Amino acid sequence: MKAAVLASGRGSNLQALLDEWQDGQLPVEFVGVGSNKIDAEALTRAERFGIQVRTFPRESYADNSSQETDILNWLEVIGTELLILAGYMQVLSSDFIRRAEYPILNIHPSLLPSFPGLHPQKQAVEYGVKVSGCTVHFVDEGMDSGPIILQETVPVFAEDDADQLAARILKVEHTIYPEAVRLIANGKIKREGRRVIVLRDS
Ligand code: GAR
Repeated sequence: MKAAVLASGRGSNLQALLDEWQDGQLPVEFVGVGSNKIDAEALTRAERFGIQVRTFPRESYADNSSQETDILNWLEVIGTELLILAGYMQVLSSDFIRRAEYPILNIHPSLLPSFPGLHPQKQAVEYGVKVSGCTVHFVDEGMDSGPIILQETVPVFAEDDADQLAARILKVEHTIYPEAVRLIANGKIKREGRRVIVLRDS
C-alpha cells in the first residue's frame, strides 16, 4: 500500500512511522512527504529515509483552492493509496476530502469527541478531566469528527500543565499511529457507517 504523509512541524509521529517501517513492522511504501511549511523538521526526517519531499507553502498560492489542487495532483502522481496526516495543521477543505480517492487518517491529541480543534491538551487541563489521550480517526468533512479507529488513554495529574500532558500523550501517539496504519495495510479494518471494527487475530 502506497502511503503519503502531510506534516507541518516537528514530525515525531512521522518518525515513529518511519522507524517501524525500517524495522519491517509496517507493510507500506512511503511514496512522499508533503508540507505547507518549508522549514518543517518532518521534511528533514523524510529526506534521511530517502523519501521524496514537496512543499506547498500557502503564501505561494493565490488561494486555498489552488494550493489544495496542487497537493491533490502531487498525491495522485506519486500513486497515493493512503494519506496520513501527521501534525498537518492546515484544515483540509470539504472539496479536498471529496476529491481524494483514498482514505485519509489523522491523529489528534485528545479523546475525541472531546476537545477537537486547536490546543486540545490545554483544553483538557483547563476542563479538569482526569483522563485524556489520543485518537486515530478517518478524516471526514468536519473538524476532527471522522470515524474513530483507535484511542489510547493517559492519566491527567493535578499538577499537569498543557506541555506535561502533551508529552505524556505524544508517547502513546507514537505507538497507536503505527498500529492503526498497520491494521489498515493488513486489511484488518472494517467500516460500518460511523463504526470502525478492528479485526484482531484470535
Ligand atoms: C501531535 O501531538 C499531533 O497529535 C498533533 O500535533 C502534534 C504533531 O507532532 N496534531 C493535531 O493537533 C492535529 N489536530 P509531531 O509533528 O511531532 O508529530
